[in-house]
Amino acid sequence: MPAPRIKSPALLVAESGADRAGHGLKRTMGLFQLVCFGIGAIVGTGIFVGLSDSVAQAGPAVVVSFVLAAITCVFTAFSFAELGGAIPVAGSSYSFAYAGLGETTAFLVGWCLLLEYGISISAVAVGWSQYVNELLHSLTGWQLPAALSAGPGDGGVVNLPAVAVIAMACVLLVRGVRESARATAAMAVLKIAILVAFCAIGFTAFQHGNLTPFSPAGLGGIGAGTTAAFFSYIGFDAITTAGEEAKNPRRDIPVAILVCIGLVTLLYCAVALAAIGAIGGGQVGGRPAALSYVVNTVTGSSVGGAVIAFGAVVAIASVVLTVTYAQSRILMSMSRDGLVPRVLQKVSPRTSTPVAGTLVVGVVFAIPAAFATLDVVVNLCTIGTLAIMGVVNIAVIALRRREPGLARTFRVPLYPVLPLLGVGCCLYLMYETGWTTWLQFAAFLAAGLLVYVGYGRRNSRLAAGSGAAEVTPDAVEAEPRPA
Ligand code: ALA
Repeated sequence: MPAPRIKSPALLVAESGADRAGHGLKRTMGLFQLVCFGIGAIVGTGIFVGLSDSVAQAGPAVVVSFVLAAITCVFTAFSFAELGGAIPVAGSSYSFAYAGLGETTAFLVGWCLLLEYGISISAVAVGWSQYVNELLHSLTGWQLPAALSAGPGDGGVVNLPAVAVIAMACVLLVRGVRESARATAAMAVLKIAILVAFCAIGFTAFQHGNLTPFSPAGLGGIGAGTTAAFFSYIGFDAITTAGEEAKNPRRDIPVAILVCIGLVTLLYCAVALAAIGAIGGGQVGGRPAALSYVVNTVTGSSVGGAVIAFGAVVAIASVVLTVTYAQSRILMSMSRDGLVPRVLQKVSPRTSTPVAGTLVVGVVFAIPAAFATLDVVVNLCTIGTLAIMGVVNIAVIALRRREPGLARTFRVPLYPVLPLLGVGCCLYLMYETGWTTWLQFAAFLAAGLLVYVGYGRRNSRLAAGSGAAEVTPDAVEAEPRPA
């Protein structure tokens, strides 16, 4: 049996450093920008659109669902934090899997990232389109016709706003990370402010009686609610894709991940309590634009609902921006390794951004955005993300054994209990997505294996011996320097 194709962490870092010396990425992001970047990737469709689905499953116990989803993420966030600090390169979980578990697993993780990031670009853009129409309607009484603002599955022809938001994200990202980091920071602050304002309004009408019965569907409802709520946490790992653009990645990336998860969990629980406490779980569950409805009901005016719709438009746009950024960086890493075509790794000397890769991501995922519905892809996105998170937890264990001397600025506490609990939680939530999703996921993985065998394995730089090392002691001392 051939030895697994494993790439050492030092080699991964050295390769990214070599690129930096040529046409590399600029190190422009401090801790604040990284946290904003994380918030930008995390807070979006899940809370503004998906909250009503989670409440429909779990009732007021959606708060428990949020906490359980957060716990799953925290277990895995520790693993991301350890690996992101030790291997600060753009490839995120893909690179971690390459170092910990080998090329085949890494390719499949990269393939699943097309679900977590790529497909969610499309899905989130579709959610954005709905809120744009909602905002237009509350401001002007007019909205885009369904034919131009929804895909065929939703009674339309083509979803133009969804395509437009992806195009805007690509333009910002192609112009340079400094500009897009600023835009992301501004949007992150604004959406947090809007959700805090929502809580302030909702809590003025809070009634304890609205929280009973607390768990109308019992444990099953809480489990299903947790899987639904998990979507609102997807994206925290995007912070690790900024490893080559962070000023001090080894210190700031672990801190930024944990700060983001903590902040977002507090925010989500507060929003859920405010919404349900104000009008009751039965009114929130399954209702489109539920947050706008809550504010309109509490204030007796439609102005507040328009402000919330504006917040949703901003929030969801920032998710599209951040996720498009992350997807282009992951493809860049895979391209460096020869597993996907070389054009995806080219960094423009003028803007210091991967222009071609960003445009390819934009064009490819604008197609499902134009024609798909939101809910069709959410479950696939969820199961793919959970699979990646499970692999990252396993990669921590594998790397601790293989590279005990690797410089780690953060170490998972209670090792190996927390990574193992992380794997268990991910498997449970994957189970909760249901067998239809499992079948679709299996077909997607099978297609990925075919692509790997047909292209990636043959073009792999590691296999060609191009600067790559099989399982050998680290040959390169590679501490990236802040610019
Ligand atoms: N967590 C991201 C969102 O809720 C995917 O939009």
